[in-house]
Amino acid sequence: MHRSIWLVWLTIVLVACQPIAVPAPSAPAATLDEWSEGTPGVGDPIFPLLGNGGYDVQHYTIELSVDVMRNEIMGATSIRAEATLPLRSFTLDLLGLTVEKVTVNGAPAHFTRDGQELTIVPIAPLAASVLFTTVVTYAGTPTPIRDAHLDFVEQGWNRRDDVIFVVSEPQGAMTWYPSNNHPTDKATYTLRITVDEPYVVAANGVLREEIDHGARRTYTWEMAQPMASYLTTVVIGEFVRITEATSLGVEIRHYFPPQDADRLTQIFATTDEMIAFYGDLIGEYPFDAYGAAVMPFPLGFALETQTLPIFGLDLATEGVNAHELAHHWFGNAVTLASWDQIWLNEGFATYLQRLWLEHKLGREFLESGMRRYYEMLSAMKTPAPGMVDAQNLFSISVYERGAWVLHALRLRVGDELFRQFLRTYYARFKDGVASTEDFIALANEVSKQNLTGFLRSWIYDETLPPIPEVSQSFPASD
Ligand code: ARG
Ligand code: ZN
Repeated sequence: MHRSIWLVWLTIVLVACQPIAVPAPSAPAATLDEWSEGTPGVGDPIFPLLGNGGYDVQHYTIELSVDVMRNEIMGATSIRAEATLPLRSFTLDLLGLTVEKVTVNGAPAHFTRDGQELTIVPIAPLAASVLFTTVVTYAGTPTPIRDAHLDFVEQGWNRRDDVIFVVSEPQGAMTWYPSNNHPTDKATYTLRITVDEPYVVAANGVLREEIDHGARRTYTWEMAQPMASYLTTVVIGEFVRITEATSLGVEIRHYFPPQDADRLTQIFATTDEMIAFYGDLIGEYPFDAYGAAVMPFPLGFALETQTLPIFGLDLATEGVNAHELAHHWFGNAVTLASWDQIWLNEGFATYLQRLWLEHKLGREFLESGMRRYYEMLSAMKTPAPGMVDAQNLFSISVYERGAWVLHALRLRVGDELFRQFLRTYYARFKDGVASTEDFIALANEVSKQNLTGFLRSWIYDETLPPIPEVSQSFPASD
């Protein structure tokens, strides 16, 4: 163990070892065979082992001490969950690292590891609907996941130069903390991270507390609204924190590399206006804060990590900011129900990014852009966006034909009903998940038309459908 972090480590262990006040549930009159083993997956078509059945997480408290130079972490994650079945055992997703200890409701629990599954057997079984707290104490150097289908990124905890950044979509959260790693189980989070000076820690939500220990400093971040595990992030490095004035009470704070801070402050200066634009269009911004974490190097992508999207230096642009911000309504607040339906995330964010441009540059600009992508899609003979496999998760079909699903709906029902659809869809599924079938059913409901065949062919047919007739003219743009 690295000596300088020993004291912090000891503190974490002492805190983690405090008995938790929730009493072990007294086992009801169930016979032994009525207790189940929580399943090691939730049936995702692409990632069958992601997530776990039998419980529903409410809150994660992730407390880590990080040695940036050695890229070592040590600490404990505490998970408050509700059993949804009577459980004799259950699993969490965790890949790599060394688990030192697991407790359930303060009592040491037996655990085994097999690949990404950490199976836990509490000393007493858990009755259905009881709340229980699991604390996993662990350490090591996280290894991000390499996936041949997603060769542009290593998912999870990354270290490059003197910067640590977490980009998990879709699977990487399990490289740095144990979780129910599927978007269907969202939870709130506290992230308490200790690093050496002069490093700065940014994470999801609002910075609640900074404790100065001299050579080390602890940052406590709070994510008070539900968040899917793939949207958790931590960024550690020598960043400057830039705050922007806000007109709506959403705290705007960016983390920029010092040498690029002035230029980036200019680029991101429209953030407040964008939050207002999307808020008017869709419904109030769902979180307490927003801001960009821009890496001092290119990444080739950005990722909509909740309230703190990560940008490669190469993609720190106003357009990409509009895309990542739009994800906060569609993707983050309303989350995809399974990974093969990722068009619900990317189609929405891509189209909403265009709506920001339409707002700035006019309807003709939007129309000509959409037409260009339509021609590109028909020339490329891309697969349908609706039920993709692993290699098409971030494909042009998902982004651009996904955006076209929304544009086609808008052309078909007209601007007024389309706006009403966006607002209703957001209001109904906010803080939860939605599926393609939910999307279609709501389009039918709001339009009072049967659009099932029309939308299914845009979403699932291999052949690109014809561009619909405009049902009503666009209002003149100003
Ligand atoms: N969801 C991201 C976006 O729309 C793409 C992220 C790809 N990278 C990743 N680490 N999964 O911009
Ligand atoms: Zn996106």
